[in-house]
Amino acid sequence: MRALTDCYQLSNGVGIPCIGFGTWQTAEGEEAVASVLSALGAGYRHIDTAQGYGNEGSIGSALKRSGIKREELFVTTKLANNQHGYKKTMAAFARSMDKLRLTYLDLFLIHWPNPLDFRSNWQEANAETWQAFEELYRAGYIRALGISNFRQHHIEALMQTAVVAPMVNQIRLCPGETQDALVEYCRECGMLLEAYSPLGVGKIFEVPEMQALAAKYGKSIAQICIRWSLQRGYLPLPKSVMPARIAQNTQVFDFALEDADVQRIAGLTGCVGYSMDPDSIPW
Ligand code: A2P
Repeated sequence: MRALTDCYQLSNGVGIPCIGFGTWQTAEGEEAVASVLSALGAGYRHIDTAQGYGNEGSIGSALKRSGIKREELFVTTKLANNQHGYKKTMAAFARSMDKLRLTYLDLFLIHWPNPLDFRSNWQEANAETWQAFEELYRAGYIRALGISNFRQHHIEALMQTAVVAPMVNQIRLCPGETQDALVEYCRECGMLLEAYSPLGVGKIFEVPEMQALAAKYGKSIAQICIRWSLQRGYLPLPKSVMPARIAQNTQVFDFALEDADVQRIAGLTGCVGYSMDPDSIPW
């Protein structure tokens, strides 16, 4: 990858810009509108949101206000945890499209495999949800389908009835948390790995080893993390609401980490904590 708009190719041939702009914990309203406008101004064309983030309306406003052509944008949203099942999925998708002011979506993900509302029947709920996803995909309303926070047993269950295999799994991938077995399994299944919390939700800035690497390369810790994510073949989704940081996080194509440093960063086990077990999340 040599630029922000260079693409990974998904298994169905759709191109996806190699860094996405993350919006988790960005508040609906002026903050979300301004940060997305700032990201688009800095050159991002890939925006990642979710029904559960509560900011789709602001993102839709920003996309519209930007005046950027629809076909230049790549927009992802995710199905909320209480909306699994065929009918609910269809209705929730329609609401997202209204809020985002889009006629088609680039990527739709099941946000969590096993939410509390469906804990007793998550396999059936995901199978029904996926049927809705596939129909929307075949009808041209969605360009690519995926999952998030799925582990191997969730994927195996989904694949028992899926006709179209997921093209993406979005999971927590950051320094010290590389989920190697899951990543390998997803790649064998033809999925691209998207990396959420690539900066460890901000905790990475206190890690001494990362401070030393930033000094070594003359780059910020955020830039080291994003570059590391790309060199691992992930698609990072850094979040910021600060224009200077939003721009800084795009400047990652003018240096490369040595292999030994890529390994060192991967090995900072637990330095920013661990992902949650999707089978026992309290939501
Ligand atoms: P802010 O939004 O105030 O800029 P992650 O992407 O792993 O979720 O991390 C996001 C966190 O990292 C947010 O707290 C964000 O704060 C902060 N952040 C994002 N980019 C930078 C940067 N370049 N320098 C310092 N902090 C950053």
